[in-house]
Amino acid sequence: MIYSLKDINPKTYEGNLVFLYGDESAERVLPLGKREVELVRGKRAEARGKNFIVSFDRLPWRLYFVSFDSERPAAEVQETLRCQAAELLKMMEKDGVKQAGLCAEGTLPEEVAAMVEGLTLADYSFDRFRSKECYHLEELTISSMFFSPEELETQERLWGRIFWCREWVNLPVADLNAEAFADELQAVAKDLEGVTCTVMDKRMIESLRMGGLLAVNKGSVDEPRFVVLEYCPSNQNNPSTQSDPIVLVGKGIMYDTGGLNIKPDDYMQEMKSDMAGAATMASVVFAAADNRLPVHVVALLPLTDNRPGFNAYAADDILTMYDGTTVEVVNTDAEGRLILADAIAYAVKNYHPRVIIDAATLTGAAVRAISTFGIAAMQTHAEREMEMLKIVGNEVYERLVEFPMWKEYDELIKSDFADLRNCGSTPQAGTITASKFLAHFAKEVPYVHLDIAGVAYFTKPQQYYRVGASGYGIRLLYAYLQMQEK
Ligand code: BES
Ligand code: ZN
Ligand code: ZN
Repeated sequence: MIYSLKDINPKTYEGNLVFLYGDESAERVLPLGKREVELVRGKRAEARGKNFIVSFDRLPWRLYFVSFDSERPAAEVQETLRCQAAELLKMMEKDGVKQAGLCAEGTLPEEVAAMVEGLTLADYSFDRFRSKECYHLEELTISSMFFSPEELETQERLWGRIFWCREWVNLPVADLNAEAFADELQAVAKDLEGVTCTVMDKRMIESLRMGGLLAVNKGSVDEPRFVVLEYCPSNQNNPSTQSDPIVLVGKGIMYDTGGLNIKPDDYMQEMKSDMAGAATMASVVFAAADNRLPVHVVALLPLTDNRPGFNAYAADDILTMYDGTTVEVVNTDAEGRLILADAIAYAVKNYHPRVIIDAATLTGAAVRAISTFGIAAMQTHAEREMEMLKIVGNEVYERLVEFPMWKEYDELIKSDFADLRNCGSTPQAGTITASKFLAHFAKEVPYVHLDIAGVAYFTKPQQYYRVGASGYGIRLLYAYLQMQEK
């Protein structure tokens, strides 16, 4: 989509027009005839602050009138606008409208931004394997006194990274193995100022003794990779002046068959998205670098697929992890925590992290607990960080809900033969036992675990997302990094 900023006089504008109506102050520029005004006023009274969109013929153009209730709390109003944007986009698609002006006089800049964000996120679809061309909104002219070109460009760069994430998560494993994804990460990093990308191959991973990543990779014909992306703001180029980094860890299972504990029935479907955590964390680093946020951030991305090959790792195997912890494998489908544990331990040993945050499509239990409307989050030694994440999460509407990390759960991951077992001894609280397992490797370092299993990939359209990868979590973590500068 091409965006531009230009003053629009709604009464004389020649083109398709979207008119945002948040409160009565917009009435002085209503591009409507007398009877249309009556109709809209009637609808607004009837709707009692509820939201609606009406469209009018202005041959050869169309006018879309978007009414919303601006009196609600800000985050709620903005989310409503993102959802209305998706509805509007469907109407435009039906009408064959590919260019439009957005007239937003009298609305707040955050409201305009939310509307444009909704249009942008809703417009994404995974098109590269389709032979027929798909509908997209091609040009959007935004008229708003308070929305600056710089702000728009900053947002556009962030949205670009969200699209990048969605595209790579949507790619099937036949087109994207660990090596190819690492190559892509390196290629993107090369063009970004302040970002370094180190790709470790199987031999290096072996010499580091990352027992979790190597075990999960054993059934695969493809090599694993361990990718380190580091963004250092320009004033911190000298290692001695570098601040302690925020370390982001992303689960990069390129495909999760379950391994020898193979996933039954249709449980395997959508498992191409099991590397969404890694793609999310890479996108956050890229967006931070694009917009030159003054924060030192490192992403650690362990990449492999999980398959039942001839030499695949098996239940009963006992692994020695990067930090020396021994782990009894009880189920090869609980593979995410094994590769993440090595990455978290690597962060503890080699950086001095202010906080470690991971994102992982880790448990079906998280989806059963809260469905597809948010992130299941847990923390150890990171109460403050969790509070900040909750606040920004509510603001950008990528919300998280905190699950407890009571000490009683520790019993459930004790093994008869090793230090830990890789899944709980009871099927209950699967999201928490997974998090407990990971927290062991973070030791005393402030640690936040984000289980994004419910939100990384939608199997039905919801809000402003079509079926497929969502990029959920990028806006959250980007906003969290932005908060660090204050
Ligand atoms: N990748 C899955 C979790 C998942 C499930 C993500 C559904 C997205 C949607 C993970 O590796 C897994 O298989 N977890 C198991 C753990 C169990 C064996 C302890 C699960 O949740 O069933
Ligand atoms: Zn699994
Ligand atoms: Zn998995």
